[in-house]
Amino acid sequence: MKVVVASDHGGMNIRKEIIGLLEEMGIEHIDLGCECEAGSVDYPDFAFPAAEMVAKGEADKGILICGTGIGMSIAANKVKGIRCALVHDTFSAKATREHNDSNMLAMGERVIGPGLARDIARIWLMAEYEGGRHENRVGKIKTYEAE
Ligand code: RB5
Repeated sequence: MKVVVASDHGGMNIRKEIIGLLEEMGIEHIDLGCECEAGSVDYPDFAFPAAEMVAKGEADKGILICGTGIGMSIAANKVKGIRCALVHDTFSAKATREHNDSNMLAMGERVIGPGLARDIARIWLMAEYEGGRHENRVGKIKTYEAE
């Protein structure tokens, strides 16, 4: 599995935590930044390239972090083929993989701490899509998107 990771200035610390987690888990990853210690950046400039990598199959999954996770998730979900879940609890982290087949995860560094963010990311990365009854529902999203 290859995972692309990106943040704006509001998510830099948790992005570094997540990169550490991916290294511990032995998961290949691509870090798209930001390298924005000196100032603020615009989250769409990081969400779109990461989401496009997932949509094109250049990465299997993506993890995005900003202050709230909201801007990153809104931007990523504009890219065709992306199902980005904004998650701040471990129950939803598992459920969104199992039910929604989410291919990107967004979190907010001003919302949760680094320990919970690591737990959420680990659970999300390890959980599998269940298919079955969910296939019809996810399929309707794909059909709508294709129209
Ligand atoms: C940046 O100040 C902040 O707006 C951004 O990190 C994010 O929370 C947007 O949704």
